[in-house]
Amino acid sequence: MKSDVFSLLYLVSAVLFIVGLKGLTRVRTARRGNALAALAMLIAVATTLLELGSIDYRWIVAGLAVGSTIGAIAAVRVQMTAMPEMVALFNGFGGGASALVAASVLWLELIESNTTATVAATLGGSAAVTVFLSFLIGCVTFSGSVVAFLKLSGRLRGRPIMLPGRHYVNAVLVLGVAVAGWALAFFTTDSDATRLACLVVAAVSLIVGILMVIPIGGADMPVVISLLNSLSGLAASATGFVLGSNVLIISGALVGASGLILTQIMCVAMNRSLGNVLFSGFGETAAGDDSEYQNVSSYSAEEAAMVLESAESVVIVPGYGLAVAQAQHAARELADLLESHGAKVTYAIHPVAGRMPGHMNVLLADADVPYEKLIEMDAANPEMRTTDAVIVVGANDVVNPAAETDPDSPIHGMPILRVFEAQTVLMIKRSLSPGFAGIKNELFERDNTMMVFGDGKKILQAILAELKELSAAA
Ligand code: TAP
Repeated sequence: MKSDVFSLLYLVSAVLFIVGLKGLTRVRTARRGNALAALAMLIAVATTLLELGSIDYRWIVAGLAVGSTIGAIAAVRVQMTAMPEMVALFNGFGGGASALVAASVLWLELIESNTTATVAATLGGSAAVTVFLSFLIGCVTFSGSVVAFLKLSGRLRGRPIMLPGRHYVNAVLVLGVAVAGWALAFFTTDSDATRLACLVVAAVSLIVGILMVIPIGGADMPVVISLLNSLSGLAASATGFVLGSNVLIISGALVGASGLILTQIMCVAMNRSLGNVLFSGFGETAAGDDSEYQNVSSYSAEEAAMVLESAESVVIVPGYGLAVAQAQHAARELADLLESHGAKVTYAIHPVAGRMPGHMNVLLADADVPYEKLIEMDAANPEMRTTDAVIVVGANDVVNPAAETDPDSPIHGMPILRVFEAQTVLMIKRSLSPGFAGIKNELFERDNTMMVFGDGKKILQAILAELKELSAAA
């Protein structure tokens, strides 16, 4: 009877995870989806603790208090721009937790009980393999995610770090961890040998995670974050098999599958294969154009306003700088004003604009920009030729024509928003500094480009004020 109630609660939790994930697919339902998934997690954790029964409630209360405090502080304090590194770190925690659970199973069943049987004999053949996989994937995810966090937060060099002969080193390490895992599962018969095999698997897996992420840099980081997210789900799922927990298997599989789908979507958006992202060392192998800028024309907010005053069709292209400047509300106000003057205004969204999937959508939703005004890259590009003015706010790599024109460019082949086809491009940024990929943007030199230098929010507000003055004077 009691176990039926627990099974029912696990089922409710699994269903809530699925419904919550579905809610996350739309901006409008995302908050509710998130709340449902959090509720599902609470039900799953509470049910597990009740089922175990033997845990002192003081540990539970202390765990809840510490976890909730850390989560609440992180959620309140994190800047929108620092969201990707927080996601990277939380992925790492997920992987680390799975590895610790696998380690604790090995510890309790084999080391503490001082058995002379192998892992396979004690837990069963398939459980021996899953405990090893859970340990391996959890450690790789943990160390890889920590490196991704350090890179994204600027604590470690963002560009690829290429070690000589790294493919051979990786191959040897993967072989080594497979042998150690095989020995751990099927051959070690005393607790000392089990302990040693565990340490070897942990150490080598942690090194593999580090070596997997350090050669990746530039614009490929989002793909890696998404892949690590998927790995953390797989580790959780494997842990679910070890513990015989259906809800963990289901939720881990959901994270694993959705992370993998997102990885694939981003690879397609950047016109790269996953193998190319993981093994090519983006940003170091291709040098690109590093010559000085020539013929860059700088304009004032007043001149930009005069261009916009006569424009009938305007496309706003947001990028990472829009997030830095928190310029989404100013962009919305400018769009409203232009629309009130009869112009057609849309927002063109590049799939990897910003620093995380859906970054621009989240920012613009924050400013209540109607969802139907957001146009995806494939639909936006054919409209560029007939657009009077494009306002690029803090975007750089995603509008860089070098992706199409320069075969030596590190971003060559990445689909871009073809803003250069519009009649006039207003490029709002603070300087001629490069974007995330660290490369020159020849768009700045084009005849139809007007560089408007300054902070995104301040420039948009200045243009807004100028437009209001122009219409008051008319
Ligand atoms: P970026 O190419 O990174 O360019 C952002 C530009 O914003 C910079 O050139 C910067 O120039 C400008 N900027 C910064 N602060 C500003 C401010 N306060 N006001 C105005 N401008 C400001 O951005 P993007 O075009 O959005 O491209 C995204 C890049 O990040 C791609 O390479 C992508 O692959 C990569 N990436 C994407 C993701 C995801 S999933 N979206 C995750 C990680 C990395 P100034 O310094 O001169 O102002």
